[in-house]
Amino acid sequence: MTSRTGTVFRMDPRLRETLAGADLFIANCEGPVMGGKKTERGFPWISFAMEEDFLRGCLKELGVLPSRCVLSVANNHIGDRGLEGLRSTLDCLGRMGVATVGQRGGAPPFFLSLERNGLRMGIAAWTHWQNRRTFDDFPAVLRGRDIIDSDWREIKMNGRLDLLVGIPHWGVEFHHFPRPEEKGLARLLAQRGFDILAGHHPHVLQPLEWLGKTPCFYSLGNVNGPPLPLLPWPIRLGAFLEIALGVHGEQRGRVAGFAVHSFFRLLSGGQERLLPMERTRIPLRRKLMERWNLLFPFPQGGTFLSTSSR
Ligand SMILES: [Fe+2]
Repeated sequence: MTSRTGTVFRMDPRLRETLAGADLFIANCEGPVMGGKKTERGFPWISFAMEEDFLRGCLKELGVLPSRCVLSVANNHIGDRGLEGLRSTLDCLGRMGVATVGQRGGAPPFFLSLERNGLRMGIAAWTHWQNRRTFDDFPAVLRGRDIIDSDWREIKMNGRLDLLVGIPHWGVEFHHFPRPEEKGLARLLAQRGFDILAGHHPHVLQPLEWLGKTPCFYSLGNVNGPPLPLLPWPIRLGAFLEIALGVHGEQRGRVAGFAVHSFFRLLSGGQERLLPMERTRIPLRRKLMERWNLLFPFPQGGTFLSTSSR
């Protein structure tokens, strides 16, 4: 998300090391990247925009090379500065060497196809929410209906994809559990060929559900957002999801294991830091772990869990 101050958070070195080792980093870019336009309040919604330097600073602090990064532009804030804002975002990310997903372009089906370590993957991103009517007359970002109506098994076969990743912007803000709508849709998407689902928008963590062999992480929370003194603690708890993929034989393109790396957005000496939950102080840590255990009934803190038994 954008930052009202434009100040980039500080990342815990161990978390940065984990992210720096990733072959691919996927995230949501919640708002247009537009030079010279600060975040401002506009009735009835908060109007977002972020500077290119701010975004570059965030990726650098996270330890993510732009060339290994995919950002989704399918979210409810991307239309905050009109069509011009979306165009500026796509231009800027292209300049930075960041791949984008979630925008319409060319002929359907709309998804990003890329290859890493010999694996060919498809990434589709879409949003169920849109704050403004920017794209009513000119649909430029993908919505739920664009995804639901496509035959993804056929798309995978025709595109010779080893796996398909879905990045939905869905759910209800500040709710820790998905609604029947998201749960039903996740089940349908898993049946139709999605191998991994990882969502956002609620600002807080939501649980993992296995749908056959497809893991669905309903919401991973926020890396960045409104100034911390204003935020209750559950909105400051987020996670990076690490996924390992099989590359050989029957395991090719399958989820071989995963880890969920917690972080808490902490204000220390006037500087915002992303700190693993286990590095926070008691009694805060106790409170965070209690909440975490309700959502993820498996070991936290980056423990890598193999899914070979599934
Ligand atoms: Fe959102």
